Amino acid sequence: MRLFDVYQLLGITPVSASGCTIRDDKGISYLDLYGGHAVISIGHSHPWYIERITSQLKKLAFYSNSVQNPLQEELADKLGSMCGYPGFQLFLCNSGAEANENAIKLASFATGRKKFIAFSRGFHGRTSAAVALTDNPNIIAPVNRTENALILPFNDQEAVREAFSGHEIAGIIVEGIQGIGGIQLPAPGFLKTLQGFCRENGAMLILDEIQSGYGRTGKFFAHQYDGVVPDIITMAKGMGNGFPIGGLLISPDIKPRRGMLGTTFGGNHLACAAALAVLEIMEKENLIENALQTGNDLMNRLNERNDRFAVRGRGLMTGIEFPDPVGGIRSRLIYDSHIFTGISGTNTLRLLPPLCLTKEEAARFADSLFEIL
Ligand SMILES: Cc1ncc(COP(=O)(O)O)c(C=O)c1O
Repeated sequence: MRLFDVYQLLGITPVSASGCTIRDDKGISYLDLYGGHAVISIGHSHPWYIERITSQLKKLAFYSNSVQNPLQEELADKLGSMCGYPGFQLFLCNSGAEANENAIKLASFATGRKKFIAFSRGFHGRTSAAVALTDNPNIIAPVNRTENALILPFNDQEAVREAFSGHEIAGIIVEGIQGIGGIQLPAPGFLKTLQGFCRENGAMLILDEIQSGYGRTGKFFAHQYDGVVPDIITMAKGMGNGFPIGGLLISPDIKPRRGMLGTTFGGNHLACAAALAVLEIMEKENLIENALQTGNDLMNRLNERNDRFAVRGRGLMTGIEFPDPVGGIRSRLIYDSHIFTGISGTNTLRLLPPLCLTKEEAARFADSLFEIL
């Protein structure tokens, strides 16, 4: 049997990894500035992460959500206090798309409405409602097209005002910082304005923090830079450091009803052990502060010697936009300098390294980039 050929592969076969370093089957080491699409948060192969998961595996890997699971409660407490939303409710699932799918469904249940606003260049996943609210016609199948999805220009508050005056809106979904769209920050005040429209009109503000959350930007969630309190926050990626887990933080004003949401695998014992290990390591090693400091240091280094590109981002979520396509630079970074980076569109390098990246590792990237340029 052959694999269904949908991925653009780099031609590299990683076999082991630790911290921010990946090793391939030929013994070459790569500096990981991409974290496998923003997934690796505490670094590869952290000993406490391995210990937490293996000891749970020996006790109980899985039982369904029909029984008490104290690990879920522990995770809710720890997450609530670390992220600054202790009064919110937690629902666990398995991935980012699933978190958004549930958030959209929940907002529709809570308001009794069906129209949602999303934004140009936004990405929310590949399940039905999430993909309908993603601004990429190439990945929306005919069955997912719906007039309930209003895609408006990002950062255009007048367009949002108009949409509210013409439609009954259930909610708005917006990324804390657009990731796949090229590390695009919300304009100052934009998220606040969205919150205002939602509050005035009885709609739900859903913050997709799947890429921008979990400490990557130097705060637990990127929207915390904008001083807003969403109704629903979605998370995944960095939450399990590679172990599949996603979740929704839900305002205490949204009341649960039995059967409203549900999942077989979501919040299983092993996934909770992984997510708890991630939070424990983030706290103990002060990784959110490290993301802020190392990210600022990297940004300064890049700006100091630069006259060819524009740098955007917060903490360790960084976009480096060039006037021309950047594929050649990225290839040289990967194959000559042995540094993994991502790409957004054609012109932007996208960096999403583990939060434990050191200033020396960040400097190695900056030096390699300038050498290539
Ligand atoms: C902002 C955002 N939302 C949702 C998703 C979908 O997450 P998943 O691939 O885990 O379904 C992604 C994935 O890249 C993302 O970046």
